[in-house]
Amino acid sequence: MSSNDLSSRYAASSRWMHWTMFALVLLAYLFINVFDLFPKGTATRVNLLASHFLAGLAVLLLVLPRLWLRLRNGQPPIVPPSPHWSELAAKLTHLALYAFLLIQPILGVVTLQIGGKAVALFGVTVLPSFVAHPDRALGHQIEEIHSWIGTIFYYVIALHILAALWHHYRRHDNTLQRML
Ligand code: HEM
Ligand code: HEM
Repeated sequence: MSSNDLSSRYAASSRWMHWTMFALVLLAYLFINVFDLFPKGTATRVNLLASHFLAGLAVLLLVLPRLWLRLRNGQPPIVPPSPHWSELAAKLTHLALYAFLLIQPILGVVTLQIGGKAVALFGVTVLPSFVAHPDRALGHQIEEIHSWIGTIFYYVIALHILAALWHHYRRHDNTLQRML
């Protein structure tokens, strides 16, 4: 099979999902980092936080359809095949990335709801409150976990990107081309 063989790529829908969700995660990170640069109470800060919610909620909306597409479409083979350890590392990393895409936005929503704050986008509440008795201290603890997971995944995502580049430039296999 030549590396240009179209059938050796991920399905178009899976590729679209991968790059759309990459852009959304990038935006979620970008907005929350820029948000910290503005003083409390300013409209820009409030809007950047709402933009963080919007990007994160879009990730949550897409993750299950993405998993369904992945299960339906399967995975194209890597040519030439990867060593066993690399296959295992890829499986574990992909599993961690899927867990992150699902759990991180849920923790964001739970942070707000347990903290007694509305999940609001630009002044419009978009989710009803599922929590009868808000607990600000607990909300704060969940926010810390959300923030920690966010930090850990800078490294996991960096590892994932380095692996893609390693496959492309060192092993000269079709791993990256399958996702383009
Ligand atoms: C892929 C999705 C998401 C990622 C990668 C992400 C990442 C992060 C990170 C890294 C922080 C910590 C920033 C810091 O400690 O300086 C943070 C804070 C926060 N996130 Fe998310 N988040 C996501 C989705 C969401 C969603 C869907 C919501 C709620 C609808 C949310 C609500 C919050 C809140 C309330 C904070 C605390 C903001 C503050 O300091 O007041 N996040 N997020
Ligand atoms: C937020 C950032 C990213 C996330 C959350 C993410 C997530 C994922 C996930 C979950 C998979 C597994 C797909 C499957 O079910 O088989 C995957 C595969 C892949 N990703 Fe990413 N990705 C990100 C960024 C990137 C970037 C920037 C690149 C390129 C430099 C990249 C290249 C690839 C490649 C080549 C594959 C296929 C790997 C294989 O089949 O072994 N990803 N990504």
